Amino acid sequence: MRRKWVGGNWKMHGSRALASSLAGAVVDADIADVDIVLFPPFPYLREACAACAGSRVAVGGQDLSEHESGAFTGEVSAAMLRDVGCGAVLAGHSERRRYHHEADAQVAAKVACAMDHALLPVLCVGESLEEREAGRTAEVVSRQLGAVVERCGIAAFERIVVAYEPVWAIGTGRTASPGQAQEVHALLRSQLARDDARIAGSTRIVYGGSVKPGNAADLFAQTDIDGGLIGGAALQATDFLAICAAAR
Ligand code: PGA
Repeated sequence: MRRKWVGGNWKMHGSRALASSLAGAVVDADIADVDIVLFPPFPYLREACAACAGSRVAVGGQDLSEHESGAFTGEVSAAMLRDVGCGAVLAGHSERRRYHHEADAQVAAKVACAMDHALLPVLCVGESLEEREAGRTAEVVSRQLGAVVERCGIAAFERIVVAYEPVWAIGTGRTASPGQAQEVHALLRSQLARDDARIAGSTRIVYGGSVKPGNAADLFAQTDIDGGLIGGAALQATDFLAICAAAR
């Protein structure tokens, strides 16, 4: 039985005050049986980590550098994320791939770096609307996943969460249907199973893209959907907590 996982990706939203109150509300709800990770913007990691200290809620960065340290202005390293109390990090979110041209190999290097520093990497994969309409969904997500298998090895997937986030469903209010999402999740799991069936069976594969309190339960009920990565609805404590509750 895979334990459900729910992440709240705040993207570039909020303030110090919101970070403290939102993280505080999630901690106070004390939801058991679900792993919950909050991903605030870098400047608010401190507030979120302080609010979550000693609780079962973890905090993660929205991105990391693939370099250890050095002259990389504007970048944040895995060691720095650990240093401020993070336990996880997103790698290859579609907004990073799209606006910052992160390539598969770079994303794989980021995942490797996160693992070297004992951060839980949340590897994001997903196709664009154009790719889906061209019937290229399977090809795109398996290429994105394959790059990480190649770089980090199949054993790494005991400690990686995979987030399937179709780009056309992110922030658009257009959710993949539970069937559409399940189909891709099953495909990703079978790709991992070709290398190691046991590990594939234990890897958490979560869905992201317009998950709301009203559709979360149906999505999370699918065989291969192990929770969600939540954007917009993660900025409202009541919505986010309702989604976490749906994952139990
Ligand atoms: P959304 O974002 O829930 O607002 O669609 C999800 C994500 O980008 O992680």
